[in-house]
Amino acid sequence: MKLTGKVAVVTGGATGIGRVIALKLADRGAAIMIADINEEAAAVTAAEIEEISGRSATFTTDVTDVETCRELAAATVDTLGPADFLINNAGIAGAPGWQERSFSTEEDWKRTYQVNVIGMSNVTSAFRPQMTERRSGRIVNIASIAGREGRPAIPHYSASKAAVISLTQATALELARFNITVNAICPGLLWTPMWEQVGDRYARDNPAYKGMTARQVFDAMIEERIPMKKEQTPEDVADTVAFFISDDAKNITGQALNVDGGFFMR
Ligand SMILES: NC(=O)c1ccc[n+]([C@@H]2O[C@H](COP(=O)([O-])OP(=O)(O)OC[C@H]3O[C@@H](n4cnc5c(N)ncnc54)[C@H](O)[C@@H]3O)[C@@H](O)[C@H]2O)c1
Repeated sequence: MKLTGKVAVVTGGATGIGRVIALKLADRGAAIMIADINEEAAAVTAAEIEEISGRSATFTTDVTDVETCRELAAATVDTLGPADFLINNAGIAGAPGWQERSFSTEEDWKRTYQVNVIGMSNVTSAFRPQMTERRSGRIVNIASIAGREGRPAIPHYSASKAAVISLTQATALELARFNITVNAICPGLLWTPMWEQVGDRYARDNPAYKGMTARQVFDAMIEERIPMKKEQTPEDVADTVAFFISDDAKNITGQALNVDGGFFMR
C-alpha cells in the first residue's frame, strides 16, 4: 500500500529494528518522525529517509519523560502534520551493565519497565488527542516472544514485554470507538547487538550452552526451537508493521502477532 501523504512516528527509530521500520514506511511514501534518545544516530537515519521519501524530522525524545513526549506530539504536527501511524518500538533489555549480571537487579526491573512499558504509554497518551480528534489512527507496539513465556536470562525483560501485550489490548479497547487500531508484534530470534548480549548471558549461565559463542547459542536455539529453522530479521518485523497499518488490517485490533518462524503457536 502506498503511504504518500501519511505521517508515521517511530520511537527508537534511529537504529536497529526501528530504523528498518522507518526506512520501509518511507519507501512507501510516508513522512517519518524519528523519536529517539540518540540524537546523532537519529540524524543519520533521517538523512537516509530524506533520500527515499523526501520528508523526515527528528525529535530528541526520552520516552520516559512525559513532558518531552507531549512536545514530540506537538512538534510532529508542526513539522509534518498530525500522525497517522505511531510505531512504539523504543525498548531496552536492562539497566546499564545488565549483560554482566547473572541475576536481574531492582534497577534492571525499574529501568526496563520505565522505558518498555511506561514509556510506551507516555508516547501513546501524547498522540491520543490528535488521533481521536480525527477519528483515525494506527498504533503498533513492538513486544517480543519473550513476553509470551518467561525466559531465564532476563526475567525483567520478559515481564515488561508481557506487559506490552496487555497494554496493547487495553489501549485497543479504549481507542476502538475512535476508529483507531492498536496491535503488537512479537519478534522472535533476530541477530542484533541485543541478542548477542543475551547469547553471552546464556553461554555463561546456562549449562546447556556453556562455552559456546553468542552466535553458536543463537544458532542452537534456532535449530531447537524454531520449526522453520531460520532466524528472523528487522525486515520481517517492518513488513508486519506495514501490514498492520494497511487497509488490509482495518478490522484487526488488540492482537499480538508472533513473527518467529513458529517458535510460539499462540
Ligand atoms: N533485537 C531483538 O532480538 C529483539 C527481539 C524482540 C523484540 N525486540 C524489541 O524490538 C525493539 C527494538 O530493538 P532493537 O534490537 O532494534 O534495539 P536497539 O537497541 O538497536 O534500538 C532501540 C532504539 O531505542 C532507542 N531508545 C532506547 N531507550 C530510549 C528512550 N528512553 N527513549 C527513546 N528512545 C530510546 C535507542 O536509542 C535505539 O535507537 C525493542 O522494543 C526490543 O525490545 C528486539
